Amino acid sequence: EKQGYPHFMLKEIHEQPQAIADTLLARTDPDGRIVLDELRFDGADLRSADKVYVVACGTSYHAGLVAKHAIEHWAGIGVEVEIASEFRYRDPILTPHTIVVAISQSGETTDTIAAAAHARDQRARVVAISNVVGSTLTREADAVLYTRAGPEIAVASTKAFTTQIAALGVLALFLAQERRKLFPEECRDQLARLEQLPELMEQVLEADGHLAELAERIARADYVMFIGRHNGVPIALEGALKLKEISYLHAEGFPAGEMKHGPIALIDSGGPVIAIATRGHVHSKVVSNIQEVKARGAEVTAIATEGDTAVKEHADHVVYVPEVHELLYPILTVLPLQAIAYHAAVLLGRDVDQPRNLAKTVTVE
Ligand code: M6R
Repeated sequence: EKQGYPHFMLKEIHEQPQAIADTLLARTDPDGRIVLDELRFDGADLRSADKVYVVACGTSYHAGLVAKHAIEHWAGIGVEVEIASEFRYRDPILTPHTIVVAISQSGETTDTIAAAAHARDQRARVVAISNVVGSTLTREADAVLYTRAGPEIAVASTKAFTTQIAALGVLALFLAQERRKLFPEECRDQLARLEQLPELMEQVLEADGHLAELAERIARADYVMFIGRHNGVPIALEGALKLKEISYLHAEGFPAGEMKHGPIALIDSGGPVIAIATRGHVHSKVVSNIQEVKARGAEVTAIATEGDTAVKEHADHVVYVPEVHELLYPILTVLPLQAIAYHAAVLLGRDVDQPRNLAKTVTVE
């Protein structure tokens, strides 16, 4: 039930800190080593792995794009992320040393199940990341890592997304540990950083008032553009997906560096641009991209790191999130984007939990 919330989506947005804490619970042994019992792969399998493919649809695909950065950085293994409906009809180069991570909240998405089967046919090792115990995908995988988000009712996925990112973060650290790419204490430190996220998420969720005002401006727009770089790209894509699916506004996400190659032509006076501009090695690049769209008349909202006053000089509005390790920002930066989409949809009188033309679980091609 909605427990006093007007919509399941809002309830689920606010359940995210607890869902992340649950997903991270009891992932270590008494020595602080990460143990993923559900995985059933031994260290030798993981050490000999030479490639990871991630396959998924929609929001789960965006979680895969976020995880690519963590797995490559921490575990030192190349990652390709692919839309399941494309992967299943392709001839990817797969061997017993390929790990295919299939992500699906429901575990019942036809294309993701078919992509996993396609991988298994070619003897790749399949790990399912799912929120539903015993779902079809989990039964067909070699190993499973469960998110513990609890039931997600709203069609727009929120807590499933952030718990997938958290679970994939643990998987990345587990791979790093087994492949000896990080020292045990580095793994422990990074896991401890993940464990601090629920508290920081609470802080971001509490600052919601300002976002309702921002959403009013967004709801009046014909077109909303989201930009980011590095692991801000999947958050830009996710922000746009959330907004389009529940408010029906036209929204798109782009890697900010691609603007000059076409999308900047869309910028018009007063058109809203939401930029993921948190601290990290690409921060100054995003700030330049903000200046470029500003110069062409865009009204820019930046999602930035607390204390970053410089960004204020360039953006019209700034939404702050607490400072974290660069690889962990997506779990925080997506929160205001979920809230903006939610408020815009409510203002426009949309059916937030049951948007038109969409089903919660896509069991057809
Ligand atoms: O259950 P799954 O994770 O496999 O679902 C995948 C997509 O259908 C899902 O994420 C969809 O994009 C959501 N409606 C997005 O909010």
